[in-house]
Amino acid sequence: MTTRSSTPPPQSELGQQLSAAIPGLEVRDTPDFLDAHSRDHTEDLQFLPDVVALPKNTAEVSSLLAWANARRVPVTAAGAWTGLSGGALPVKGGISLSTKRLNRIVKIDELHHQLVVQPGVIVQEMQEAVQAKGLFYAVDPASRGTCTIGGNLAENSGGPRAVKYGVTKDWVLNLEVVLADGTIMKTGADTLKNSTGYNVTQLMIGSEGTLGIITEATLKLLPWPKYNALLLVPFSDPKDACHAVAGIFQDGNQPSALEFMERAAIELAMDFTQDRQLPLSDDTAAHLLIEVDAFREDDLMPQLERLADTLGRYNAGEPLMAMDTAGKAQLWNLRRKVGEAVKAHSTYKEEDTVVPRGHLPELLEAVKRIGGEYGFESVCYGHAGDGNLHVNILKGSLSDEIWHDTLPQAIRAIFKEVVDLGGTISGEHGIGWVQKAYMDVRFSPAEMDLQRRIKAAFDPVHTLNPDKILPQGASSSGETP
Ligand code: LAC
Ligand code: ZN
Repeated sequence: MTTRSSTPPPQSELGQQLSAAIPGLEVRDTPDFLDAHSRDHTEDLQFLPDVVALPKNTAEVSSLLAWANARRVPVTAAGAWTGLSGGALPVKGGISLSTKRLNRIVKIDELHHQLVVQPGVIVQEMQEAVQAKGLFYAVDPASRGTCTIGGNLAENSGGPRAVKYGVTKDWVLNLEVVLADGTIMKTGADTLKNSTGYNVTQLMIGSEGTLGIITEATLKLLPWPKYNALLLVPFSDPKDACHAVAGIFQDGNQPSALEFMERAAIELAMDFTQDRQLPLSDDTAAHLLIEVDAFREDDLMPQLERLADTLGRYNAGEPLMAMDTAGKAQLWNLRRKVGEAVKAHSTYKEEDTVVPRGHLPELLEAVKRIGGEYGFESVCYGHAGDGNLHVNILKGSLSDEIWHDTLPQAIRAIFKEVVDLGGTISGEHGIGWVQKAYMDVRFSPAEMDLQRRIKAAFDPVHTLNPDKILPQGASSSGETP
């Protein structure tokens, strides 16, 4: 007779000790399982955890953190491993805390237009659950079909609709958080207003699991604007497309998405998805993908007419309009797949630059100029309405030596331009592991020291996602990792 046991007992010393200390906690450490939890979507990085723990409630998270903190074992939380800065990678080994079993939509509160979720809920499932009740959660990252709300909170994710509706932080009212020593706390209140003490809620968002582990979030919702129209607008000069972006807002348009794609971005996405139906004339060098939305269908046309007036002044070509569901899905699919398509095409590094949107033309020009100086090709695309340009630097024929030793100087040069333009080095992918060496481009030593002291106040012995966000350096209080 065979016994059915889906979870093999842990073999490592750490796994056995953790299992014994917290009965009922699922702990995995088979080589296959560890391997499957060692990569995210950031370049080709891999870091193996020693064990993976899959808590199923807040009490287990609390026991786990208290246990690990007392023994100084690193704990790195992870959702769906779709991150783009290595934030969820266990770079110091230890415990990878998977939120996979914390995947309940706890409550959809139709009276107050609120939603309570655990961190492991997939964002698209959450969007669809509220939409079925006529409600709207607007943050819509490219990976929404797989990424989790916990990951979005940890990285302060944005995506295409941020331009009208804001990024993850703008939707959060209250968080349940487990601190490094196992203390369970609520950061805010389930209210639209809150002027009560320090804003720990916002401090947690984007902190990449370095200050605490989010175990529940109260999010606000809006009524669902169920009508929308989508335009793909070609330009023969990418600079015209970039100049049009600020002009669109100056003319009083309020698009619900305003995306930029260089020709290479859409071509790679067409190859990757094997969807070659889109007409792409020889003189098209870039596109803007523009969505407008409304509560009433007849509110769309006036918005489209006003947009057409603006675009006419920026040498735009004939737009392709997708009004039906299939056409819109096709265009959005191409846009969402750009990142994966570039990754499939070449070894690459993805930078997540963001500037005030009126400076997009200078940013694009700087990226191409620096590429020329250092000899790299880049594919640029992103959330133009937010001034957020994803710069994918292709390895192409660059030698390993140049890729590893010289390219960081080029990235630094791009980031310096970004900061000079009033921008910053990550708009929505976070700093994590791959960008922390550049934090000094944006922050002075005093500003970084303040951030180190915040980290030390929350996590004095540095067990929570150690060695992320801040480069090593002296801190005026607390240990450095
Ligand atoms: C996107 C991801 C890479 O915008 O942020 O496609
Ligand atoms: Zn993006």
